[in-house]
Amino acid sequence: MRPSKKERWQKVFFRKIAPSYDLVNTLISFGLHHHWRNYTIEKADLQPGHRVLDVCCGTGMITKDLAQKVGPQGKVVGLDLSPAMLKIAAQNLRAYPWIELVEGNALALPFPNDVFDRTVIGYGLRNVADPRQALAELFRVLKPGGKVAALELAKPRAPVFNRLHRIYTAVCLPLVGYLFTGDKKPYQYLHHSIQTYPAPEKITRIFQEIGFTNVCCTALSWGVVTIHVANKPGP
Ligand SMILES: C[S@@+](CC[C@H](N)C(=O)[O-])C[C@H]1O[C@@H](n2cnc3c(N)ncnc32)[C@H](O)[C@@H]1O
Repeated sequence: MRPSKKERWQKVFFRKIAPSYDLVNTLISFGLHHHWRNYTIEKADLQPGHRVLDVCCGTGMITKDLAQKVGPQGKVVGLDLSPAMLKIAAQNLRAYPWIELVEGNALALPFPNDVFDRTVIGYGLRNVADPRQALAELFRVLKPGGKVAALELAKPRAPVFNRLHRIYTAVCLPLVGYLFTGDKKPYQYLHHSIQTYPAPEKITRIFQEIGFTNVCCTALSWGVVTIHVANKPGP
C-alpha cells in the first residue's frame, strides 16, 4: 500500500517532535495524560498472558503499561508508522523483551484475522487518514470476544470551557511546541485535528457499524479526552 499524503507528512511531523514528545505531552496535559492512560488500561481489562496490539504506539508509553499488565507470559506488539517514534520506543521499552515493535500502517495491519485478545489505540484515530478503516482493522485482528480501547483528544462540551480549551490549543500549544522543537506547525496541526475530529457519538456509531458490540464511551477531564471501549462479538 502506497503511503497517502497524510501519512507522508505525519512521518515528517513525528520525526521532528519525537525527541521531546513525552516531555511536551506531560507539560501540555499538565500531567493528566498519566491518568487518562491508566483509565484506558483499566477499561481494557487486561489479563496476564494476553496478546495485545498497541496501534500508533509512538514512544511506547501505553505499550509499557500494557506489557506490565500482561506480564512475561503475554505478548505486546507496538505498531507505528514513524521510525523516529519507534526508535524512542525501543529505548523506553528495553526492559520488556515480551514487547515487539513493528513499523507499519494502522490502515493495513500486517497481522492475520482473530489473533489478539486486546487492541488499543491511543491518540491515533485522529491522526490516521481514515479512522473507520483503522477501526475495521482493529476489529479484524481481534479474537472473537476480544476488546478494543481507543483513547482520543476531544472538544469539551461546556461552552465556556470549550472556548478556553480552544484558545489554549490554538495559542499555547504551538508556543510550547515551538520552544521545544523550533517549529510551530506540528502543534498547530494538533489544534486543527482536535477541532475537526468527529464528535464522540459519531465515533460510537462507526464502532457499531463495523460490528463492535457493547460500545461504551467515557469522557474524562471535562471532555478533554474520550475513551471508547467495545467488544468483538464471540464466545
Ligand atoms: C499522538 S501520537 C500517539 C502516540 C502514543 N500512542 C501515545 O499515547 O503517546 C500518534 C502516533 O500515530 C502514528 N501514526 C500516524 N498515522 C499512522 C498510521 N497510519 N499508522 C500507524 N501509525 C500512525 C504517529 O507516527 C504517532 O507516533
